[in-house]
Amino acid sequence: MNLVVVSNRVAHGKPNEPMTGGLAAALLPVVERSGAIWVGSSGRVRDGNQKEPFVEIESLGAGALAMLDLPAAHYGGYYEGFANSALWPALHSRTDLIRASQEDYTSYREVNAFMARALLRFKKPDSVFWVQDYHFLALGAELRDLRVTQPVGFFLHTPWPSRALIGGVPHHRELIEAMLAYDLIGFQTEEDCENFLGYVKQDLGLAVDDGMVMSHHGKTRAAVFPIGIDPRKFAQQAAKAMTHPDVSRLRRSLNGEKLAIGVDRLDYSKGLINRIKAFDRMWTTQPQLLRTVSLLQIATPSRGAIEAYGNLQSEVAKLVTDVNGIHGEADWTPIRYLNKGYSQAVLAGLYRTAQVGVVTPLQDGMNLVAKEYVAAQHPADPGVLVLSKFAGAANELDTALLVNPHDIDGMARTIATALSMPLPERRMRWEAMMEKLRGSTIQQWFADFVEALRETQPDKSAIEPLVPEPTLWPVRSANSGARYH
Ligand code: F6P
Repeated sequence: MNLVVVSNRVAHGKPNEPMTGGLAAALLPVVERSGAIWVGSSGRVRDGNQKEPFVEIESLGAGALAMLDLPAAHYGGYYEGFANSALWPALHSRTDLIRASQEDYTSYREVNAFMARALLRFKKPDSVFWVQDYHFLALGAELRDLRVTQPVGFFLHTPWPSRALIGGVPHHRELIEAMLAYDLIGFQTEEDCENFLGYVKQDLGLAVDDGMVMSHHGKTRAAVFPIGIDPRKFAQQAAKAMTHPDVSRLRRSLNGEKLAIGVDRLDYSKGLINRIKAFDRMWTTQPQLLRTVSLLQIATPSRGAIEAYGNLQSEVAKLVTDVNGIHGEADWTPIRYLNKGYSQAVLAGLYRTAQVGVVTPLQDGMNLVAKEYVAAQHPADPGVLVLSKFAGAANELDTALLVNPHDIDGMARTIATALSMPLPERRMRWEAMMEKLRGSTIQQWFADFVEALRETQPDKSAIEPLVPEPTLWPVRSANSGARYH
């Protein structure tokens, strides 16, 4: 089998680099080991005069990483436009934030078609294609149009909302019909999968039998594959990170005070405003907690060219300033607020230093920070996870302290409870969560999906390729024997 993994963002195998995005960070170690070719955006654009897509290839573990320059004329409409200003808000139940033009949709489809053409270079008779996330809902259909008959699967890392909400996306019907060109569609939770199948049944009027949909594309299976982490590796990283200078300095700076930690992309789905308001509320209603606990909030800037993200950045920064202004002292800062990314090697140590992990998104596909926080804890003295019931992770990590992120007072009380939780209860809750993490690792997730995808019998018509396969690609660099040109 020749596995080709596709995602918009890819990651390099450098452990000390900051990572943007859970998907790329999570996939890196498993893709590295699998020998797959991982194809994604190079982060650069190129004008449309190129005959063939421009790709830079480097080795990645036993496989390769192929980074494409995407078409300059369509990149903005695809990434900032349709993917992140129409699909992302709808998938996270924020249809009020949908802003997308017809041109954005055209660009989204153009980039999906461009990626499909680029993938032909990697097609072999025994290839299996696995497409990741909402950037490429229509990529399977584009591959079928190019007469690709090999198994093509898709995994959605975000939530899939109710019919009414997805109906807020322009061209939703066309896109969901296109998704049925995939042989296998994976979701994070049962609810996401049911919402999707509900649309397929009621809006498309198609028959669904035990997760199997029959459409003019043939059979598509929809199923649940909750993504995991590598808890053993993360625990080792956390133990090692305690001597990292950044982590040691943080510990020294606490002077015996407790620490709560939040680590998020600066995104409206992450519930940052409500979280900070909850800390404000806690210090107001329980002033004895002033100077006994501070919050370290890492908020990595994200998608800054989109208005909703720019507005959020200003709003969070102002709220942090206000709360620090009200509760702070000359020698004490309640909220340490950082707008930068950290490598996983350092993050693991920051998580282990914090007695409370606050993961309180308004909506989240899975949220791997929740799982990483748990895995990073010291077994003899673990911290407490305060987790939103609207994160996919809450289905598994049900011995965390689950909160409703819209209930500010409730969150304030729960954070205080977490801070005073006795050791036996902390250990009991943590052990139960670790058992779940060990039973559902990223390696298992990867293997289960690929196995299920290989088992699909693509009955998508087997016709000879319409377009000749390119024989030569411009290759910018290749630092191993893995060359595809
Ligand atoms: O949640 C979906 C997702 O792809 C995550 O896996 C990742 O954290 C984020 O979106 C990446 O966003 P971007 O690539 O726009 O920074």
